[in-house]
Formats: sequence, structure tokens, C-alpha cells
Amino acid sequence: MKTQTVIVTGASSGIGKEVARYFLQRGDNVVINSSTADKLETAFKELGGGSHLAMVAGNISDKKTGEKLVATAVEKFGSADVLVNNAGIFETKPFLEVDEAYLDRFLNTNLKGTYFTTQAVIPQMLKQHSGVVINIGTPLVHHALAGVPITAPMSSKGAIHSLTLQLAAEFGKDNIRVNTIAPGTIRTPMHGDDADNTAGLHLLNRIGEVEDVAEMVYTVAKSNFITGAIINVDGGAGAGHNIS
Ligand SMILES: NC(=O)c1ccc[n+]([C@@H]2O[C@H](COP(=O)([O-])OP(=O)(O)OC[C@H]3O[C@@H](n4cnc5c(N)ncnc54)[C@H](OP(=O)(O)O)[C@@H]3O)[C@@H](O)[C@H]2O)c1
Repeated sequence: MKTQTVIVTGASSGIGKEVARYFLQRGDNVVINSSTADKLETAFKELGGGSHLAMVAGNISDKKTGEKLVATAVEKFGSADVLVNNAGIFETKPFLEVDEAYLDRFLNTNLKGTYFTTQAVIPQMLKQHSGVVINIGTPLVHHALAGVPITAPMSSKGAIHSLTLQLAAEFGKDNIRVNTIAPGTIRTPMHGDDADNTAGLHLLNRIGEVEDVAEMVYTVAKSNFITGAIINVDGGAGAGHNIS
């Protein structure tokens, strides 16, 4: 299997860190990012450092961070084959209490971060005439929950799903594939210790683990004919709930 250079945003924690580990363990080159430099350095060490790993700290809503990620991938490893737009934030707040600054936080990190980091990598992928962009969405954009007030994060994640299809259409002729993976509740620091309380939202009656998502990110990266797809890795949560 061809060795790839993989950029993973938000890789100091949770899903992103496991995605980085998954590719590294299988012989690929990985460039990791997150906005907090010391958290990223800790993850870098935890992942073993080494010649197949590089890091770029920075806020992904600033396009310069994406440009540095791509420059690092090309300088150190010679290509930028896969971008995993994983960095993201999620919080709850009732709709009528959301002000512009709060909404902007989600649009900036989740939507603009994904948008501009992709804009930074596509010129390199065009030069290579190949590349894969994998966004991290959520089945909740098509499956609302009355008791969980998340209009701000869902507005940003819904836009990522739409962006996925449009980018896949615009760059398909250039052999650049663009997909979204939509996880159910995954055990990460994002949900603290209460995550298992949502087990019943999933037909499998359990929450997911970071490895469940990393495995699918890897599969999509290594495939050749998947593009414009929204792939749920959600234990069936998008289909129904395990409630008795
Ligand atoms: N966990 C779930 O149940 C679940 C379900 C569906 C979708 N997702 C999505 O999966 C992705 C990863 O979530 P997670 O659960 O692994 O969360 P997490 O453990 O909180 O990790 C989030 C990562 O994103 C980074 N980050 C946040 N804002 C950033 C910014 N502006 N620029 C660069 N990095 C930034 C964080 O690092 P710093 O703090 O250092 O910036 C951290 O490394 C998110 O997009 C999330 O919406 C998660």
C-alpha cells in the first residue's frame, strides 16, 4: 500500500490523536496540529516523536496555520496526500441565549477552520493530481435531539456536510476525493465522564471508541473510489435509538 503523508488537525486529543497514531503505526507520515502548543507537544511525545511525525501548532481558523501544515508536510515528507479536518468544538447553549460572539466561535473553528485548511491543501493536491480530504461531521445534522440545545455547533457542522459534496464535485476531475465521516458519541475529553449516559442513543447500545473512527478514516484514505460520501460511524444512532 502506498505510503501517504497525512495532516491531522486537532490531534492533541481524542479522535485526532488516535487518527494520527493509527496512520503512524501503519507506516505513514503524519503532521499533527492543535491550537495549544504545550498540549500538542505532549501528544507529539506520546505518539513517539520520530522521523515520521511532525507538528504545527496554530488556530485552524487562520488560513496561515493550514499553509504552514502543508509546507511542513511537503518539506519534511515530499507530499500532502490526506487532510483530516478533525479539529472542532462542541458545547450546548439554548438558542435564545446564543449571541454573535458565541456563534462565531463555532463558525470560525468548525466551518472556517475546515474551509481554509482545505483551501490551503488543494493547490498541492492539484500539483500531485491526487489527494483525499476527510472532514469530521456528525449524524446529528440530520437527526435532531430536543433535549440537547446545539444550534451553534450544528449550524457549523451542517455546513461542513454541504461543503463536502460541493468540493467533491468541483475537484473530482483532479482525482481529489472529499468525504465526511460522521461519528456517534465517541469517548473523548469532549464529553467528559458522562458519555456513557448516551449509550441508548445508539442501536448498539454503547458509545463509540476513538479506534472506531480512526479505522474508518484510514479506510477512506486508502480507498480509491469513495468521494462525496457522508459515512456514519455511529453505532446506528442515525437510524434509530435503543430505548426500551
Ligand atoms: N466525541 C464525539 O462524540 C464526537 C462526535 C461527533 C463528532 N465529533 C467531532 O470530532 C472532532 C474531534 O472531537 P473530539 O471528541 O476528539 O474532541 P477533543 O478531544 O476535544 O479534541 C478536539 C481537538 O481539536 C483541537 N482544536 C480545537 N479548536 C481548535 C482550533 N481552533 N485550532 C486547532 N485545533 C483546535 C483541540 O486542541 P487544542 O485545545 O490544543 O486546540 C483538540 O486537539 C470534532 O470536530 C468533533 O466535533 C466528536
